[in-house]
Amino acid sequence: MKIELRHVHKRFGPVHANNDISLTFKGGCVIGVLGENGAGKSTLMKILSGFQPLDSGEIWIDDRHVDYTGPQAAIRCGIGMLQQDPLDVPAFTVLENFIYGGGDGFSLPRRTAARRLKEITARFGFELDPDTPIANLSIGQRQQMEIVRLLSLGVKTLILDEPTTGISAEQKQILFDALRELTTRDGLTVLLVSHKLEDVIALCDEVAVLRAGRVVGTRAMPATTAELVTLMFGQELAPQTRQPLDPANPMVALKLENLQLRGGRVTINDLNLTVSMGEIIGLAGLDGSGQEMLLRAIVGLHRPAHGRIILRDEDITGQSYRRYISKGVAFSAAGRLEEGLVAGLTLTEHTALITETGMLIDWDRARLHCENQIKFYNVRGRPESFIETLSGGNQQRVLMALMPEMPVLMALEQPTRGLDVDSSRWIWEQLMARRNRGAAIVFSSPDLDELVAYSDRILVFYAGQMYEVPDVTRTTIDELGRLIGGHFEDLPV
Ligand SMILES: Nc1ncnc2c1ncn2[C@@H]1O[C@H](COP(=O)(O)OP(=O)(O)OP(=O)(O)O)[C@@H](O)[C@H]1O
Ligand SMILES: [Mg+2]
Repeated sequence: MKIELRHVHKRFGPVHANNDISLTFKGGCVIGVLGENGAGKSTLMKILSGFQPLDSGEIWIDDRHVDYTGPQAAIRCGIGMLQQDPLDVPAFTVLENFIYGGGDGFSLPRRTAARRLKEITARFGFELDPDTPIANLSIGQRQQMEIVRLLSLGVKTLILDEPTTGISAEQKQILFDALRELTTRDGLTVLLVSHKLEDVIALCDEVAVLRAGRVVGTRAMPATTAELVTLMFGQELAPQTRQPLDPANPMVALKLENLQLRGGRVTINDLNLTVSMGEIIGLAGLDGSGQEMLLRAIVGLHRPAHGRIILRDEDITGQSYRRYISKGVAFSAAGRLEEGLVAGLTLTEHTALITETGMLIDWDRARLHCENQIKFYNVRGRPESFIETLSGGNQQRVLMALMPEMPVLMALEQPTRGLDVDSSRWIWEQLMARRNRGAAIVFSSPDLDELVAYSDRILVFYAGQMYEVPDVTRTTIDELGRLIGGHFEDLPV
């Protein structure tokens, strides 16, 4: 299937999100769609999959002009996009979702559906049990379910927008193998939006690069990371050097004593940990292995079942989140729009929430402060923009702008999730600046490179068990990967 975009334009008020985009995607290939945060990638993918109308321009499929009005119509034309938060019915089982997943009232007989579901899952090695309720699936399994559903609807082009966020290394391998097989054997087209250049290098046959709403280049793979970065940002990034911890600062920022944490699926027992001022602790592990719970516990959002939390030299176990904040603790959650930011509020309103602590809000002052923050943090958005209209990367910048300048302790869940390479570096510069002023940082990340690059110490979580990596500077990504999978036995103690 050949897809052609001709002079596609899309504006959101003053933002020209897609500016005269013309691209051709041919069948049998994986095409990487790259570009800095806010470049217009998701907008373009939503237009192609019918989730958003274009302002002007044309879509041609196999040399025929198509004009569709929604995602169901796009699917009928053969184009389907995996939703980051699949639009399913969580009370349903995998099989039921498959039966009713056609979207427009169409449903398959149960027996046929069960057989087809089994065929597809077996072919790709997906770990989908038909009788499991959707609510119990991991992000990776939900993704597999969406792929199965779209394939059974006859989709010939699959669009994936940052699909490797939040899935395990094994699931990523299964996903990539499936995408390879679908393109090379079945001649499908796959459009992959990703900031993970190693994924792009591993999987893509071609890339198309957007910048500020325009196409700035296309090229055939293979290409090196440096070449892709140059295409995306117009220049190479300076090499990075590891900044070691200043040993002259032995003051304790955080001390955990015999901490016991109980969550939905995991329990952490008897955790003891001392974090010095200026120290960076990386938490590794698959989603739900206990690291998220620990992050929430050290900011007062999850009450420990047992043990003590000491900040500097004050025991603050069991106190409120507000109290933790007033003591210099800062937290940012991975689910930006669920926990950190408030959909429906503008950027100025977010600033006011933090800076205007009196009874009366001085809106002029809040707006001015917000404008300064937008400039300093290079946010693509305006004071009156609603937070949910910003691209993912720009939301992350806003979160950083809302962080205190001189915290004692920062607990960060996936601080660079969804950020382009340049923005990730920039975020870490901001974090390092705070660390150099003495802040301790505890962060989690699914990105092993990030953990190794920035952590002074790494703690690996597996089903509530914790293992401290002996020497971060001598740990390889592979070793870390094995630890995350629970293989603690064959590593040095
Ligand atoms: N619904 C909307 N309302 C207003 N502006 C929007 C809307 N959707 C996107 N934009 C703006 O359009 C521009 C492109 O956004 P888009 O989400 O397509 O970027 P992206 O390339 O996917 O970025 P990221 O890598 O951060 O996900 C951004 O400036 C964004 O703020
Ligand atoms: Mg996007």
